[in-house]
This record gives sequence, C-alpha cells and structure tokens, in this order.
Amino acid sequence: MCFKTVFLISLLIISFNKCHSIDSRVDPLVDTKVGLIRGLKAEDGDYSMFLGIPYGKVEESNPFGPSLPQETFEEIFEAYDDSAICPQIEEFNKTNTGTLDCLHLNIYVPDVASTKSPVPVLVWIYGGGFQIGFAGRFLYGPKYFVRHDIILVTVNYRVGPYGFMCLNDPKVPGNQGFKDQLLALRWIKDNIGSFGGNSNKITLFGESAGGISVDYHLLSRQEKLFNNLIIQSGTSLLPSLIGEPESTRTFNLAAKLGFESDDLNEALAFLANQSPNSVIAAMQGTDRFLPCVENDYENVDKFIFDYTFNLDIPKVKNVAILIGHNSDEKLPYYIMEENIDYFEHVDIFHDKFNDAFNLNSTELTNVINNFKHFYIGDEEISEQVQSDLIDFDSDFTYIHPTQRSIKQYTDNNAGDIFYYMFSYNGGRNFVKKRLNVTFGGAAHADEIGYLFDISYMKDEPSHEDQLVIDRMTTLWANFVKYSKPMPEISDLLPVDWKPVEDNLLHYLEIDSELTLKKRPFNKRMAFWDLFYRHNYKLQKGYRSRNN
Ligand SMILES: *[C@@H]1O[C@H](CO)[C@@H](O)[C@H](O)[C@H]1NC(C)=O
Ligand SMILES: *[C@@H]1O[C@H](CO)[C@@H](O)[C@H](O)[C@H]1NC(C)=O
Ligand SMILES: *[C@@H]1O[C@H](CO)[C@@H](O)[C@H](O)[C@H]1NC(C)=O
Repeated sequence: MCFKTVFLISLLIISFNKCHSIDSRVDPLVDTKVGLIRGLKAEDGDYSMFLGIPYGKVEESNPFGPSLPQETFEEIFEAYDDSAICPQIEEFNKTNTGTLDCLHLNIYVPDVASTKSPVPVLVWIYGGGFQIGFAGRFLYGPKYFVRHDIILVTVNYRVGPYGFMCLNDPKVPGNQGFKDQLLALRWIKDNIGSFGGNSNKITLFGESAGGISVDYHLLSRQEKLFNNLIIQSGTSLLPSLIGEPESTRTFNLAAKLGFESDDLNEALAFLANQSPNSVIAAMQGTDRFLPCVENDYENVDKFIFDYTFNLDIPKVKNVAILIGHNSDEKLPYYIMEENIDYFEHVDIFHDKFNDAFNLNSTELTNVINNFKHFYIGDEEISEQVQSDLIDFDSDFTYIHPTQRSIKQYTDNNAGDIFYYMFSYNGGRNFVKKRLNVTFGGAAHADEIGYLFDISYMKDEPSHEDQLVIDRMTTLWANFVKYSKPMPEISDLLPVDWKPVEDNLLHYLEIDSELTLKKRPFNKRMAFWDLFYRHNYKLQKGYRSRNN
C-alpha cells in the first residue's frame, strides 16, 4: 500500500500524507521561533496541513490553573496528528475522553502563501457551551476556506472543570480556557509569519461559546492580537452566563470522588491527582463550570474584569466586525426528549428572568406576565405554543443580545459592522441533521456545515448546498482579506451588504438567496428594547459607573 503510493508520488510529483516518513522531500518544513515544524501536503486541495502543534502546557501539579507557554522544540516537530481533545464527554459518540496534553492548534496553509507574499489569517475558536469541543478535522475541515487563499488556524482550549473552575484563590483564578486561547493567539501572532501568514491581518472567528470567546478577547485588557472579528450566534451579553468565584462546586466535585474536606488546597490537590476521566465522570449531574468575573491577585493575569454591560471597549475602535445569528436558534432544543420539562414542569419565563435580573416577587410576576402576553397570549406553557417558546428563548439568549452587542460596539466607535441572519434549511444544517429535524429555518450551529468540511458528511454537497458554501466562505474570506464581505458585486454575491448605520440595522439574510434587509424580527426586538431600557440597571452584576 505504502510503496504503491510512494511510486505514484514520484511519478506525479504530488505528495501524500500517510507515508510522510518515507517521502519527506515533499512534506513542508517550516522554521519558526519555536523550532522546526514539519507538516503534510493535503490530498483534497492545494494546501499544507500542520496538525496538532502544541502551543501551551497544562501544569501537572495544578491542572485547573493557568497554562504555560510551550517550550522550543529541540527536534523537528512532526505535525501530523489533529486528534488531541481536552477532557470532556464528546458529543458524537458520547465517550468520556481527552487528556491534558491537548493545548494544540492546527494550521492549514494554501500553496500560494509564502513569507515573501503572506496571506491573511483566520483563526477558529469552537463552541460547545464551554463544556465540550475540539479543533480537529473530524468537524472543522479546512478545504472550503483555504481555496480562498487565506490561512485557517483552529485552536483547542480547555473546557469544563479544567477550563473554567473559578475560585477565590490565585492558583485557579478562573477563565483558564480563555487564557489558553490567549496563549494560542500569542503563538499565532509570533509564528504565523513563518508559515506565510500575515501577522498584521488576523481575524478571529467563533460560534456560540466560540463567538462569546471572540467577544471576550475584544473586552479583555490584554494586548490586541487580531484585526477583525467574526462573531456567530453568541456574544458576551448572553444573559446569566458568567458568575463569580466560588468554591462549593469544587468541594462537591471532590466529595463525589470520595474526598470530603473544607480546605480548598486539599481539595485541589486531591482533584489534581485524579484522572481527567474520573473528574469528567464525576461532573455528570453537577453544576457546570463557566466563565467568571475574576478577583484581583498580584502577579496573576486577569481576563474578565467585569460584566460586559459595565465596560467600555476601547479595543473595538476601528475594528471591523461581522456578526449574526440563525433564524431559529432554539429550534432543536424543544424537540429533544430531555427538554420535555420545559413544556410541562418548568416555567421558562420565570427561570430566565429570575436568573438574569434582580427583581422582587411583584416585579418578577409583572415581567413574566408581560412576556407571556406578548409571546403566548393567555395560553398555558405547553407543546401547543412550542414555536412561540422557541422565539422567546432565541430572542432572550441570542438575538437580542446580538443586537445589544452591536449597539455597544457602535457606541465605542467600532469600524464597519456587518450583520447577518442565516436561515437556510438544506442538507448540511449541522444540528438539525443530527437531531433529524426537517421543519423550520436554521437552528443554532447549523451554519457550521456551510463553512467547514465535516468529515462524516461523506456525500458531495448538493448543488444548492454547494452554492451556500461558496457564498458563505467567499463572504467570510473577503471579510478577512478586505474587512468587507462584498468588496464588489458579482454573480456569486449579487447584493451589496451594507454595514449597520446609526439607526439603520441593515442585515444580510443568508437563505437559498442572499437578501439585504433591515431590522430582523423588528416587533419582537422593539419589545425587548423597551424592556431593557427600563430594566437595564436590574441586570445581575450591573454596577453604576459612578462608583
Ligand atoms: C466516533 O466514532 C466513530 C466510529 O467509531 C469514529 O470514526 C469517530 O472518529 C468518533 N468520533 C469522535 C469525535 O470520537
Ligand atoms: C418591589 O419593588 C417595587 C419597586 O420597584 C416596590 O414598589 C414594591 O413594594 C416591591 N415589592 C415587594 C414585595 O418587595
Ligand atoms: C427522521 O424523521 C422522519 C420524519 O420526520 C422519519 O420518517 C425518519 O425515519 C427519521 N429518521 C431517523 C434516522 O430517525
């Protein structure tokens, strides 16, 4: 098998990736600031792959704490393996998997890129609710992006307890997963030039928790390691996302594994000695670890300083942002068996407002009633009003937060903001396919199938799906190159996508056709605008600026 391939290679002068050790002549070798890195020629396009490059290290004695930069490679690093995954129960086979040697990134370099004529760089941060996700080609294959002559980088970061434990303790100050990403972004800024990337033209993009991450890199006070941003279906204004440092969850986790103590150092030392596999298993059925507003400690890097609505964002000045959401974000949520509670036992209106706002019982009842009148009339919460509940939850969780973020960016003098709504229902809608949902528009994460080559979608895309792939990846790549998704009208992109203006919320609807429209869901959003105008200061975590 291998010999046959090598024979073919020498005849056709193309490279092949299973026999790299034999035919190393054609494999690309890159000299970086951290040493020599050898990659592979791709088989499905004119590009090279550098897989699983370690950029950071988790400390063995403190695996829940901040990671350290990777040391220089002493020998050639063979970047052939993108299978690393941080500890989690991955969503495809539901296996408890992963190791702490997971802070890796993958780089995909089109053949046109060289140090003499560097190309722009697009960096992907995955979603997964800060509990799951991995960067490899199983889900995030590069072939639709690299054909546009840009470099794609995909980044692993820690999730769950290892990524987001947040304590009143400088050893585990919180947001370790974001700080992993920060290390990766520093690595990319320092080294991407060696791969033929333009380190002064870097766009970050992410979806869901990845979009929220991108937003936090904008808010953080660390150095600016990007030029433009793409934020898909999730911003840091998503309500009741972040919390504050607390130890109960950590003590509970240790207790579940058999260690009862009220000494934090002891509990941490105990947990550090447990295998990631058992820690992840013990997490089942307990409260998740999520991003938090960190305490101040001397000589400890801080990433989240405050709740987003309390912050100015000086970093956003002149940054171009492409941002949007899908048409039916919460669609699958209500179809899944395990969420049947929401129809029968739980008052979703009560829970959402109670979690996100400081309202006394009278105020809470009033708010709940107003929103019920608006979304479901005087009906009971039941399956009959399912599509209205989907609208309510989509608006609360994704759509109105996206619009509040857009306002915050423009208030802080951002560059052009391009707003989209993805509503296409085709053969590659990532989440709907997995849940076998056929009706409705586009659910949360459905657009991923039109940006990435997903390994298990083996059939060639249909003609219609391919058109959506071509349009979206061209728009995204144009934005990376020119800070505009549509530098000119073409057959493929026949409408002029105007940026948001002061009081004009232009957006591009991405369906089977592209259409420029204004103000999506204008009636629903106007209701939320009024609500937030009156209750802004009641958001949990709100702090008066004069304090
Ligand atoms: C899930 O299992 C399939 C079949 O064994 C395998 O090919 C695939 O790589 C697995 N995916 C993940 C993410 O573990
Ligand atoms: C709730 O707050 C309102 C002010 O917004 C106040 O008038 C009312 O008395 C409070 N109700 C209770 C039950 O505390
Ligand atoms: C998907 O749903 C359709 C009905 O909407 C059903 O006929 C089909 O059997 C389902 N497929 C799977 C794999 O569950």
